Amino acid sequence: MKNFDYMTPTRLIFGKGVVSEKLLQVMKQFGQRVLITYGGGSIKRTAPGQSQSLYDEVKSILQEKELFELPGIQPNPKFNPSVLEGVRLCQEHEIDVILAVGGGSVLDCTKAIAGVAGTLKGKVYEQVEEAWDIVCGRKPTTAAVPIVDIITMAATGSEYDMGGVISRTETNDKLAYFSPLVFPAVSFIDPTYTFTLPVKQTLAGIADCINHIMESYFCAEHIDMNDAFMEGAIRSLVKNVKRVLDNPTDYDARAEIFYATTLGCNGIYCLGNSESGWPMHAMEHALSAYYDITHGEGLAIVTPRWMQHILSHTTGTLHEQVVERIEKFGRNVFGVTGCEASIQAIHDFYRQIGIPMTLNEVGIDESRLAEMAKHVADNEGLETAWVPLLEQDILDIYKACL
Ligand code: NZQ
Ligand code: ZN
Repeated sequence: MKNFDYMTPTRLIFGKGVVSEKLLQVMKQFGQRVLITYGGGSIKRTAPGQSQSLYDEVKSILQEKELFELPGIQPNPKFNPSVLEGVRLCQEHEIDVILAVGGGSVLDCTKAIAGVAGTLKGKVYEQVEEAWDIVCGRKPTTAAVPIVDIITMAATGSEYDMGGVISRTETNDKLAYFSPLVFPAVSFIDPTYTFTLPVKQTLAGIADCINHIMESYFCAEHIDMNDAFMEGAIRSLVKNVKRVLDNPTDYDARAEIFYATTLGCNGIYCLGNSESGWPMHAMEHALSAYYDITHGEGLAIVTPRWMQHILSHTTGTLHEQVVERIEKFGRNVFGVTGCEASIQAIHDFYRQIGIPMTLNEVGIDESRLAEMAKHVADNEGLETAWVPLLEQDILDIYKACL
């Protein structure tokens, strides 16, 4: 078992009604000037059974505060305009705390805003490249505006991690921004907010979380306790997604899904394991950077093709490790025997719940596969992954996804 040094400073407040119960009390510990960040409008719609929208509820709870807003953060959030605009608002209004209300994209964008605004002094529009250097890690984040969030989508686990993923359209970059300074101070997780998720987003969230867990599972050195923890979490997701498809307002099913997704990207599932050998995020981020597809769908499409590829392209001890992981995963999650059956089971599960399982179905054809494979090979360092991937491997995997 590997050594580890673990801390998550985020307070999780989980359950039905927690925003009305505790948001005001939580926000009292920060200053008066609050920037509320949100997406394209889902938080302004009143859900069935609710008397007001989440947006109206938050504004009414925080009426004593001085409120500023950054609306319109898109899925696969963009550096320009959203991050830059958020930094400008923080600087101009000397914001004390940012309240992110929405899905992972809103929260990820908020983390980048918080880190860049905290680190950069002066006018952001005169320092665009410096701001980008901070986002892509070439310059350190030295301070951050505190973040509180109300997460409305069970998927990324951004509410319990220190990362975000930001896209820069003009360079086709989509990259991870990390700093321990951008862990949310407090995350509110009320599963009832996910009742309104479109089926597509519910499923994409499940696939994203399964991927985060598999990311922790597929590594060279692992321990039994973590395996059991992760296999159990995925069995719970497999069972509860079916309950939610039958009844989108099944609270207990939504709650169990949210519990798994919140822990999914935090690293807590794999303390003591060796580093992840799972390259799916690196390969998917190119797909969503070039084609703006839904992140979870891209992951689901690539996963079985990568598993198949490494099964047939590894030898010796590495091959034995690959076989052991794929077999154990299939046996304990889907109750099947052997590698082929395990890979088929994950593919069939995604297909059965309704996730598009080819690139063609999400609007990607062969034309830019080589360009994307080169981008990934040049930028993601996969040649040193647990199972190394070179540009040709990445291209072959993309082609198998068509
Ligand atoms: O923009 P609005 O109107 O709010 O609508 C959103 C958006 O269209 C909608 N939505 C969110 N909550 C809703 C809702 N609709 C109805 N009811 C609700 N309760 O869903 C759409 C997708 O939202 P988005 O925030 O983009 O989804 P998700 O949470 O899956 O976030 C995806 C982004 O997170 C990144 C992905 O790459 C992608 O950019 N990731 C972040 C990670 C992290 N921070 O650790 C890790 C992940 O692996 C991932 O890469
Ligand atoms: Zn993900």
